[in-house]
Amino acid sequence: MQKALATMQELLTEKIRTHTAKIGVIGLGYVGLPLAVEFANAGFSVTGIDIQSSRVAEINSGCSYIQDVPADTVRQHVESGHLRATTDFSVIAELDSVNIAVPTPLRKSKDPDMSFIVAATEQVVKYLHPGMLTILESTTYPGTTEELLLPMLEQGGLEVGKEFFLCFSPERVDPGNLHFRTHNIPKVVGGITPACTEVGALLYSQALDRVVPVSSTSVAEMVKLLENTFRMINIGLVNEMAMMCERMGVNVWEVIDAAATKPFGFMPFYPGPGLGGHCIPIDPFYLSWKSKQAGIEARFIELAGNINGQMPRFVVDKVQTALNNQGKPMLGSHIHIAGVAYKRDIDDLRESPALDIILLLKQKGARITYTDPYIPSLRLNGDGLSSVSLEENAAVADCVVLVTDHNAFDYASLVDNARLIVDTRNALKSYQSSKIVRL
Ligand SMILES: NC(=O)c1ccc[n+]([C@@H]2O[C@H](COP(=O)([O-])OP(=O)(O)OC[C@H]3O[C@@H](n4cnc5c(N)ncnc54)[C@H](O)[C@@H]3O)[C@@H](O)[C@H]2O)c1
Repeated sequence: MQKALATMQELLTEKIRTHTAKIGVIGLGYVGLPLAVEFANAGFSVTGIDIQSSRVAEINSGCSYIQDVPADTVRQHVESGHLRATTDFSVIAELDSVNIAVPTPLRKSKDPDMSFIVAATEQVVKYLHPGMLTILESTTYPGTTEELLLPMLEQGGLEVGKEFFLCFSPERVDPGNLHFRTHNIPKVVGGITPACTEVGALLYSQALDRVVPVSSTSVAEMVKLLENTFRMINIGLVNEMAMMCERMGVNVWEVIDAAATKPFGFMPFYPGPGLGGHCIPIDPFYLSWKSKQAGIEARFIELAGNINGQMPRFVVDKVQTALNNQGKPMLGSHIHIAGVAYKRDIDDLRESPALDIILLLKQKGARITYTDPYIPSLRLNGDGLSSVSLEENAAVADCVVLVTDHNAFDYASLVDNARLIVDTRNALKSYQSSKIVRL
């Protein structure tokens, strides 16, 4: 009896299991490049596709522009032929799977900007072929994969779950985290059909430690939004606590540390100068936008967004009060900002609260300098600033505002040198001095 012809799923499964599947990653940023490297580490042939020719050239010459990805690793994979990059989307015709990891910003109106996802998907549509797997990794509103990507990919007449496969898998990478990297962060994946989930999960399981299959793309999309909304709301809660504690003369940091000794039912979150980065300040608004369409107002998200948005002004008010207590006006004073990246030990300035703090201080007539070992220069409303010595400026500034608690800073010398410090991160917890004002 003649053996039945293998299905598309069986063919793709075989290629994945034998690591002969050709993998593509569209968008080689903080998410895409580490993922491409993990697939290359697992022995796959990986092609990264990006619209920035400078990034493509860097990868092909064995360099890395992402802090968490060592240049040596990129170079070894490029030399061994496991990794290459291109701006030419026609390579998709030769690939067995593509992961899309392009940006998903918010418009000023807090509506999701889907243009990057749509542009990348249009390219996939052009070169989609039988047996191909597409996985969206960009954070987005629940329903995107099924409502936006699926109809685009179905235009060619192929049937999902049989002739092509489509999944969503949220990316949980935490830039700068030394313990959890792409390979050991559990990977949630949901497909349009069970066959899609199976091939998506199989692919990730070849390169990553743990895969968590879920029943649909919408569940997978919602998982990411729950995680980031949970964080945003809890940060909003402790930021509001910080404002209350200030009024009541209570040290909020001590309160949180003591509460965190409870062995169950409590998880510490810490106040700060405001939310930053490409995820926490943005992602919950995808959910809020979508839930508004479903007739439900996302009240927790709006409230936390409002409270978190007040933090840069709260910090500036602290600076103003601290200067006034020393008999100095803000107008004409020299304020030195220690750290402008949105979080410790990383080189990412996106949505950083330091930018709002600098603008507010400038509006009040302060003269600003800054130090950040990871951000050599920045532009703000057309003005350029360059990072300068912390030691020299702390000694002469009227106030140092510690916005980002980089490990590279010499805190002992800062406390010795500075006249006044507003510490927004409790980085100076172990120092007692009347010149330190805590958030
Ligand atoms: N950065 C993080 O910590 C993080 C964590 C989890 C999830 N995410 C999500 O992952 C997605 C990607 O974020 P990121 O931080 O890697 O962004 P990024 O800006 O670092 O990288 C995106 C890359 O995509 C490229 N690109 C843009 N449009 C393209 C197109 N049409 N075709 C090909 N390439 C294109 C850009 O040139 C850039 O290199 C976003 O949805 C983000 O919310 C980010």
